[in-house]
Amino acid sequence: MALNILYRGPAERGQHWQTLFAQHLPQVKWHNWPEVDDNSAIDMLVCWIPPRDYQQDYPNLKVLFSVGAGVDQLNIATVPKELQVVRMLDPGIQQGMTEFVQMSVLNIHRDTLAYVNMNQRGQWQQLPGVSTAKRQIGIMGLGNLGQAAALGLQNLGFSVHGWSKRPKVLPDMQCFHGNDQLKVFLQQCDIVVCLLPLTDETRGILNQHTLACLPKGASVINVGRGEHIVEHDLLNLLNQQHLRYAVLDVFAKEPLQADHPFWQHPQIWVTPHIAAITQNDSAGLALLANVQRYINKDTMVGVVDLNAGY
Ligand code: GLV
Repeated sequence: MALNILYRGPAERGQHWQTLFAQHLPQVKWHNWPEVDDNSAIDMLVCWIPPRDYQQDYPNLKVLFSVGAGVDQLNIATVPKELQVVRMLDPGIQQGMTEFVQMSVLNIHRDTLAYVNMNQRGQWQQLPGVSTAKRQIGIMGLGNLGQAAALGLQNLGFSVHGWSKRPKVLPDMQCFHGNDQLKVFLQQCDIVVCLLPLTDETRGILNQHTLACLPKGASVINVGRGEHIVEHDLLNLLNQQHLRYAVLDVFAKEPLQADHPFWQHPQIWVTPHIAAITQNDSAGLALLANVQRYINKDTMVGVVDLNAGY
């Protein structure tokens, strides 16, 4: 029996992927929602946020694919263990994230935001700098994106170390793990980059207590999820000059409200959740390769551990 995939999302991407599947896996039936006659035939759902009752609507669903790297929007706690959830491991997302982290670290390293503020005041002032090798960058979250960002920063000459919930061994990088080692990890970060998955354990992980463990003058880059940071605590530590800069791409509530204090804050650089966008070409190929693995009864890449939530 043919495998049936239902895609729910922007039409342009759906048409692109439909063409790709027709070329490379013609035995698969691709449906762009709402073009589907029989919901019970659907084996795989490809979407960002599934409809509320998707488990009832598609009773024979076997795989739920996220079109993005994150899966926190899928309410993993309600997913039955027979249903595989798969994140998008798109080389285009990885490249975009690496570039964004490199750019943000360089901007902090070279005080771009301070110079932009001085430009606006017509102020000529040279700030002291340090070499990249002396700038210690800590990456929180050492999955696919965290590891790629770490390598990108090492290639620029920065000193990089990492922290993850579970122990990891990576070449050329000191790795810390678990709550017990969080403080000692943070104490060594001039710049901390949050690339963690959002789970009940990581929600609010950057708060008054943990942010205060960073050395005075340290900066924060958040490209994980807005809820990783307690906004009010971040603002306090920036206002007290314990922290120097924050580059924030993700927010607890998006879009960020027009009157949110982050927008006007001289030490904060806001971007509208653009660090890494799913690329139709490379993500389509990644999805295709995963569906091929499924057909071959091989393990797909990016399968979520439902107990861990990521
Ligand atoms: C974006 O935030 C993603 O999860 O891909």
